[in-house]
Amino acid sequence: MRTPNNKVALVTGGTGGIGTAICECLYKNGFTVVANYRDFTKAMKWREEAKKWRDDQLKMGIDVKVVEGNVSDFKSTEKMMKEISEKSGPVDVLVNNAGITRDAPLHKMTPEQWYEVIDTNLNSVFNCSRLVVESMISKGWGRIINISSVNGQKGQFGQTNYSTAKSGMYGFSKSLALETAKKGITVNTISPGYISTSMVMAIKEEIREKIVAQIPAGRLGTPEELAKLVFYLASDDARYITGANLAINGGLHMY
Ligand code: CAA
Ligand code: NAP
Repeated sequence: MRTPNNKVALVTGGTGGIGTAICECLYKNGFTVVANYRDFTKAMKWREEAKKWRDDQLKMGIDVKVVEGNVSDFKSTEKMMKEISEKSGPVDVLVNNAGITRDAPLHKMTPEQWYEVIDTNLNSVFNCSRLVVESMISKGWGRIINISSVNGQKGQFGQTNYSTAKSGMYGFSKSLALETAKKGITVNTISPGYISTSMVMAIKEEIREKIVAQIPAGRLGTPEELAKLVFYLASDDARYITGANLAINGGLHMY
């Protein structure tokens, strides 16, 4: 039985593989959940897909709102935050989850592949956090949860762009954690290993098989396993955890 808790959670890239599981878990645990999807002006298909996604969720009893916005663009993010604030209230829990890969060894990487990944995976964290932190400070409560990656910790062949963005999240989170620790706000990163979503399925099969063979747990993680960790960080019980990085990778990388 769901007990509403009067807190608004925004999950960027919320209609993706991991985002969907996070939205479901937070909703079931009482949050008002808003799932962000890409700015429709780029392609109408995203708006139609988001509507279908919401309908599918509703059929399962999950009432998550959807809002469009390109989180790699500050102005678009600003418009999205205004809409959320007007329709649902200020964001209490921000899950910076939107992300992409554009893998290539550096000697083949184009400037577009570099900037697209840095803008989507790292500059989005500034855009969204900057626009919610003031209301969190005035409320004296807030949670910012940044979805990083094992490949931000250890590096990965073909991912200079992605690993840079994901490790940049650590410095951002620790610095913002220092700025907000006295204000009832926690800022943390989660570093998942390889999770079974379309992002991982896009890796060539033979390469993917080699990666899975290196995971001590012997399998990919599931979005649901990750979502429970996000929920824990979002809860009151996690109020003393800030500036931390929580790894969830089946033993792929230990530190
Ligand atoms: N370590 C060392 N050498 C490697 C290597 C590795 N991991 N992977 C490839 N190479 C070598 C190859 O053996 C090959 O060597 P030779 O030229 O001597 O034969 C050379 O590098 C070129 O390899 P490819 O043919 O694979 O090069 P490519 O340009 O076709 O593809 C690539 C490059 C797209 C980066 C491809 O290697 C790849 O997809 N790698 C996997 C990248 C990866 O793990 N991405 C994770 C995506 S999911 C994610 O990011 C989620 C998360 O957070 C965990
Ligand atoms: P996914 O299914 O591709 O989800 C990513 C979501 O982000 C998609 O819905 C995507 O929209 C959205 N997005 C991309 N650019 C955006 C933008 N500019 N504005 C708004 N939304 C945007 O991948 P996933 O596996 O769930 O990944 C979620 C997060 O986890 C990413 O940050 C990823 O780096 C991280 N992560 C994943 C793994 C893994 O193994 N899967 C491991 C570690 C970390 P579109 O569908 O329109 O592209």
